[in-house]
Amino acid sequence: MTDAQPILARALRREELSKADITALLCIQEPAPLFAAADRVRREFVGDEVYLRALIEFSNYCKNDCLYCGIRRSNPKADRYRLTPEKIIETARNAAGLGYKTVVLQSGEDLWFDTDKLCRIIREIKKLDVAVTLSIGEKTREEYAAYRRAGADRYLLRIETTDKALYEKLDPGMSWDNRARCLYDLKELGYEVGSGSLVGLPGQTLESLADDLLFFKNLPVDMAGIGPFIPHPQTPLAAETAQGHFELSLKMMAVMRLLLPDINIPATTAMETLHPQGRLLALKCGANVVMPNATQGEARVKYELYPGKICTGDAPEQCRGCIQRKIESIGRTVCGSYGFHGDYLKEKQN
Ligand code: SAM
Ligand code: FES
Repeated sequence: MTDAQPILARALRREELSKADITALLCIQEPAPLFAAADRVRREFVGDEVYLRALIEFSNYCKNDCLYCGIRRSNPKADRYRLTPEKIIETARNAAGLGYKTVVLQSGEDLWFDTDKLCRIIREIKKLDVAVTLSIGEKTREEYAAYRRAGADRYLLRIETTDKALYEKLDPGMSWDNRARCLYDLKELGYEVGSGSLVGLPGQTLESLADDLLFFKNLPVDMAGIGPFIPHPQTPLAAETAQGHFELSLKMMAVMRLLLPDINIPATTAMETLHPQGRLLALKCGANVVMPNATQGEARVKYELYPGKICTGDAPEQCRGCIQRKIESIGRTVCGSYGFHGDYLKEKQN
């Protein structure tokens, strides 16, 4: 195995890393020095504050059939729900009342929410003095432009994998080129763009994960969410395992932090599904964002992308308090502002 120390030293000197370097970092057996380096870079470039984003899962209807996803259209056991626009706005108001400065609206690709409905929801939520992030899948450039005009600030769309053949096998009927096109359109339209990968997909290689990181660097993204793949029992990938996906996801986050030191990196909910301290460990390996669930009631259970999702029985108020205590327990603080990409460095310079 390649000695990772010289590669880490070069990364800390802000030298370019090649695909081979990145792959070598992803396969190191003793990752503690990698995690320590990512933590150091995180502190220097984004500080100790953690940005909170309130996640509202507003519909689990989806026209797509991604093989890994629990709410894929071919899962007849998914108990479908769709919040009304009024309920979405009320949930956002509740989140703003809990002190969140960003609301993330996430759903399957649900065509019931046409452009007019979405724009009205965005405009109403913007009146609450919060940043609005959308995570609603692939749309046309015109639709993205309309949401932006209505006030949307950020957009999350994971590329899932940069291995085009693997993507098109796991996401039948979808085109990798179109997904990439969406990300470039979003960037051009002035969104803060978040992307990311699933880690541990069947057939995925370390080389392709290294390609994912280089893809995020080249775009470049403002945020990258790295999530372990957790097999859902009612999907064609039910027999797969999540073994090893947690640590590999931590390594991906850590290398991401070295490659793009000032971006926002969430400690994903899926990490805590695989490990009871998953989000805190991620925060110590490069992450600086947490997206607590602000959805109310039964929808929290029904939005089941993977089994074992955390906090489904809790209320948004409980999650808000719980995450604050956890963050403070590791000596970090919750940020009271919008938490846009680069804010920390800008404040430091002033
Ligand atoms: N429909 C939108 C989209 O395609 O971006 C947003 C919703 S989608 C369910 C959000 C993310 O969930 C996906 O990008 C995928 O990475 C993640 N996801 C889906 N199935 C998963 C699984 N079995 N394990 C972990 N994450 C999963
Ligand atoms: Fe559409 Fe998962 S298949 S959100």
